[in-house]
Amino acid sequence: MKDFVYYTPTEVVFGRDSEEQIIPLLKKYNAGKVLIHYGGGSAIKSGLIPEIRKKLEDAFIPYVELGGVVPNPHLSLVYEGIDLCKASGVDFILAVGGGSVIDSAKAIAYGLEYNGDVWDFFDGKAKPAGAAPVGVVLTIPASGSEMSDSCVITNAEKGQKRGCNSDFCRCKFAVMNPERTFSLPAYQSACGITDIMMHSIERYFTPDSPMSITDALCSALIKDVRITGEKLLEDPDNYDLRASIMWAGSLSHNGLTGCGVRSDFATHRLGHELSSLFDAAHGASLATLWCHWAKYVMSENPSRFLSFAKDVMEVDTAEEGIDAMRAFFKRIGMPTSIPELIGRKATQEEIVLMAERCSRGGTISVGSFKPIEYSDMLTIYHLSNI
Ligand code: NZQ
Ligand code: ZN
Repeated sequence: MKDFVYYTPTEVVFGRDSEEQIIPLLKKYNAGKVLIHYGGGSAIKSGLIPEIRKKLEDAFIPYVELGGVVPNPHLSLVYEGIDLCKASGVDFILAVGGGSVIDSAKAIAYGLEYNGDVWDFFDGKAKPAGAAPVGVVLTIPASGSEMSDSCVITNAEKGQKRGCNSDFCRCKFAVMNPERTFSLPAYQSACGITDIMMHSIERYFTPDSPMSITDALCSALIKDVRITGEKLLEDPDNYDLRASIMWAGSLSHNGLTGCGVRSDFATHRLGHELSSLFDAAHGASLATLWCHWAKYVMSENPSRFLSFAKDVMEVDTAEEGIDAMRAFFKRIGMPTSIPELIGRKATQEEIVLMAERCSRGGTISVGSFKPIEYSDMLTIYHLSNI
């Protein structure tokens, strides 16, 4: 096993009345002036934003607002947020939403502590040296951004979706009330379930031999989300099921299920190109590719796929494990091929463009279980394009 650092500084307040802790938390983390950052309207419709405005007003905490974050959040709004915060003296960002809003908030937070172009952090020109504090009121369990060190932003002008990882962007707190997720459409719930499973699957398929405790936690999480997720889609107003999935979302991407091993994340990197080119939901992009990646790389370590089949999917052979996963994705309404995702086949030019972008013009590989080079990328996209 590898040496590791496990750092999860985020204060989690979880449960039905967790919103009551928003003001005490803002005070605890010295918020002087707050940016309330949110998405396309679900948090206004649900009454959450008006509720938060009132709480801040009653507590005499000044704030400004910036809504309009889109899924696969755009750099252009990040720039707007940085300008707004600088002009109005904001020193704390409260993200109200899911991964897109949180990542947009994290990128604004980076920008507030940097004199150059914040995109420098995403295209590798510079490394962050700080970030303004961010707190979260989570409305969709999926990305795990509320506890992760990651931030993923889309530069629509350049057609690039890129991530930046550092501990500076870890959230000060995350307020999580599972009741807030009752309003999620089934498709978004399924995208979230997929992403949560994938964050641990991408750690499960490692080239290293894992410690037994990491392995046990990782496979238990994937299996439980598989079983609980399917129940949730049948019974979406069940608080306990929503709560279990919400907490799994945070645990699956805060590093716990990958302590001591190298993670893979090739499917994520390939999926980001699908999201960037076709504006596809993140979770759906992963379901579109995973089974094809799995069949392509299985010969690297068939016994790992056999363990996955037996311990996670409860079937007997490695191939059956991958097929069972594909059947699961289909049952929960996820696409498992590019035509299912975008309604047509991708053209040869589109596949080449995605592989070129993903491999940075053929200069890098992605993943560690089997390093995926440019030519492998072409093959995996083609396998998913049938
Ligand atoms: O914009 P609104 O109107 O709020 O609607 C959102 C959005 O359309 C809706 N929604 C959220 N909460 C809702 C709700 N609708 C009804 N009721 C609610 N309670 O759901 C839609 C999707 O929201 P989004 O934030 O985009 O979803 P998710 O949390 O899956 O985030 C996806 C983004 O996170 C990135 C992805 O790449 C993608 O850009 N990721 C971030 C990671 C990280 N920072 O650690 C890791 C992940 O692997 C991922 O890459
Ligand atoms: Zn993800």
